[in-house]
Amino acid sequence: MSRVLTGIQPSGILHLGNYFGTMRQSIQMQNEGNECFYFIANFHAMTSMPEAEDLRSRTFNVALDFLACGLDPERTVFWRQSDVPEVQTLAWYLSCLCPLGLLERCHSYKDKLAHGLEANHGLLAYPVLMAADILLYHSNLVPVGKDQKQHLEVTRDLAIRFNNRYGDILTIPEPMIQESVAVVPGLDGQKMSKSYNNTIEIFGEGKPIRSKIMRIVTDSTPMEEPKDPDKCNVFALYKLMATPEEQEAMRQRYLAGGMGYGHAKQALFEKYTEYFAEMRERRKQLLEKPQFIEDVLQAGAEKARKIAAKTMEQVNAAVGL
Ligand code: TRP
Repeated sequence: MSRVLTGIQPSGILHLGNYFGTMRQSIQMQNEGNECFYFIANFHAMTSMPEAEDLRSRTFNVALDFLACGLDPERTVFWRQSDVPEVQTLAWYLSCLCPLGLLERCHSYKDKLAHGLEANHGLLAYPVLMAADILLYHSNLVPVGKDQKQHLEVTRDLAIRFNNRYGDILTIPEPMIQESVAVVPGLDGQKMSKSYNNTIEIFGEGKPIRSKIMRIVTDSTPMEEPKDPDKCNVFALYKLMATPEEQEAMRQRYLAGGMGYGHAKQALFEKYTEYFAEMRERRKQLLEKPQFIEDVLQAGAEKARKIAAKTMEQVNAAVGL
């Protein structure tokens, strides 16, 4: 059994790319009996300078969506990063050990600057806070997307530096890079991402979602001709939600010809509606109990804080505070 920890950025309405990219696997890991620690990275979200009300509501919505998708707060410790302020103290200690060059080399930092974000200290120190998140809880396994691989290397580097200087206190975590995760295409065929404005949300329903699905880009093979399912964005999305038998049946319809992309899109719409039905229902019920969500997060923070306090006791003694 491993202690699995990951942080979730509260970046707005969750879409199929989030769900099939990381969310589904995180929830699976909980169901496979690991000791899971998942938190909403609202401190990290501040680096994109959201409005206060936006940050609050996105944090709430991510909690709601994860609970609706099957995160079980009895089995998984689930909290808001800011409710365990100890993480900032550990981040400071790690900062003092962290060569500037290590942070300046981070691709994600350079990317953000290239996209016009201001070069400020929060953006630069982002990986140090992330290291503190991971090390505070003695996490063994950190499931993250490929884009976070370098941040985990920074984490390991800082943990090793800390241990070399102060003794064997911090657990060196292993990354669990989710490379095999299918790339989820968006409406335009590029990777589904909020920044490309090509997403299909998880919890949509009815007409608005149907018309989105109808907009998915396809080639212009005429209705009667055979089509290649493996080159089709509609099929790529259908595959994520359909059983192997359903996938095979759809593949045959593509290859046989006589099926237009409109039909494939209709089938995708129906599959989508069915696939998320239970989660959508659960989300509606949860939405009526905002206090329950708050209680879950508070209870999670309490559990997390107990572990954090223990680590900090050791760490403080070691550094001389
Ligand atoms: N940086 C991560 C992301 O953008 C979120 C995150 C913050 C995180 N702290 C973490 C992930 C700790 C794993 C472990 O996805």
